Amino acid sequence: MRKRLMSVGAASALAAGLLAGVSTPSNAATSLPCDIYAAGGTPCVAAHSTTRALYASYNGPLYQVRRSSDNTTRDIGVLSAGGYANAATQDSFCSGTTCLITVIYDQSGRGNNLTQAPGGGAAGGPDNLAVATAAPTTVGGHKAYGVYVAPGTGYRNNHTSGIATGDQPEGMYAIFDGTHYNGGCCFDYGNAETSSNDTGNGHMEAVYFGNIKVWGYGAGNGPWVMADLENGLFSGVNQHYNANDPTVNYRYLTAIVKGEPNHWSIRGGNAQSGGLSTFYNGVRPNVSGYNPMHKEGAIILGIGGDNSKGSAGTFYEGVMTSGYPSDATENSVQANITSAGYSTSTGGGTGGTLTPGSSISLRATTACCTDRYIRHQNDQAVTSVINSSSSSLDKNDATWIVHNGLANSSCVSFESKNYPGDYLRHQNFHLYRQTNDGSTLFAADATFCPQTGKSGQGTSLASYNYPDRFIRHYDNTVYIASDGGSNSFDSATSWADDVSWVVDQPWA
Ligand code: AHR
Ligand code: AHR
Ligand code: AHR
Repeated sequence: MRKRLMSVGAASALAAGLLAGVSTPSNAATSLPCDIYAAGGTPCVAAHSTTRALYASYNGPLYQVRRSSDNTTRDIGVLSAGGYANAATQDSFCSGTTCLITVIYDQSGRGNNLTQAPGGGAAGGPDNLAVATAAPTTVGGHKAYGVYVAPGTGYRNNHTSGIATGDQPEGMYAIFDGTHYNGGCCFDYGNAETSSNDTGNGHMEAVYFGNIKVWGYGAGNGPWVMADLENGLFSGVNQHYNANDPTVNYRYLTAIVKGEPNHWSIRGGNAQSGGLSTFYNGVRPNVSGYNPMHKEGAIILGIGGDNSKGSAGTFYEGVMTSGYPSDATENSVQANITSAGYSTSTGGGTGGTLTPGSSISLRATTACCTDRYIRHQNDQAVTSVINSSSSSLDKNDATWIVHNGLANSSCVSFESKNYPGDYLRHQNFHLYRQTNDGSTLFAADATFCPQTGKSGQGTSLASYNYPDRFIRHYDNTVYIASDGGSNSFDSATSWADDVSWVVDQPWA
């Protein structure tokens, strides 16, 4: 009923909501991606996002998390109908423990939820679930979390409703982190086999992002947006190289694949600004088996059709449509995407932002210590009172260069201003300035994921490899500390204040 009414047009979507007795969403005037697809006559049949509603009237859960402390689950919803994710629900439910994303709900009303992928022809299962805090982002000034796919992670639905099969037309877009990818097979979102096995050419139609060159590739060194059509990632009509498919690495990337009988297209753009470009628009590949197509209608995220799971990437939102969307419809969707305000800025709390490349200082917010900054001294991280009369050495010791996280580009690492190549890292939960030795452990120990300050002020910095531990001062020494625990520095007393930092102008 709701779908039928909404497919009449975005203008009538609000009316449909009113007819159905749904309360008027505060921002109902704004058409969100699935309202726009419906208005174009190609309605969403799956709509997945951990960051925001994709229909102006959507007021249900976006995703579900499960915490390790007691294995209970919690749905994460929207702040208001048609609005952004209520990340605070996750932050409080997951405080002091680790959460995994267990379900990514389908907002289309068709029940096409994504859950833990089962094993398949290429790899056993079930696949891993994403760590719920691993891809923090800001959207529309609100804190939210994306789906961070490390190799081995995968979501799937083999029993869908309304997804294209055979040679039926469909479209899809996804927003990915264009700086997080690899050369493993295959970071996909879209249509795949219902058996989790490779059942032959043309049995898939998914949007792929990464730099694997085994099947197809485009200009430059990658990564590329390609179409996974099974036994082939296609960058155009040719099996291998197509010069028109460019390397794209926008931090927030809009990636599009759509297909109809003997016709398909690849499009892409910057999800933060500007329009879409068309990277391919033409007939099916000049390889047998792809015309007509043999789509099966399962949905995958983060894996290949046969559950190949060597791939990495980050997903924020995506939809699949019934029917081949027009370029004009997709251009309107892109306009909504760029207006949604995806950003790496930590937003929310007070203080500055952690922009990669910038120099900053980190000031304590606990009442005792608001004149103290994180600095290194004899290779240890401590807090010291720093002010305009401090020595140049002290000011330099208290200044850090923000980088994309060494272990995860969604997070950050802090390089010492006066010891280039040295970073803040933890070891036995104490914080130090140490030279990056290039190891995986160093990268993980030196990566911190920012979120709104636990006290409500400033920014808190979760350890990447100990996500329930945050950078904390205790007796003016700096640690990664949990909220209560066996070490003295895990003391629950003033924990929230001690882990909340203001990002200040750099002292040096
Ligand atoms: O088409 C590329 C990959 O090949 C598919 O994702 C997978 O099913 C097969 O291994
Ligand atoms: O700080 C906790 C762990 O201690 C770090 O991951 C490791 O470097 C050290 O063994
Ligand atoms: O680091 C200074 C103070 O020392 C912290 O606020 C408190 O937790 C500890 O007593």
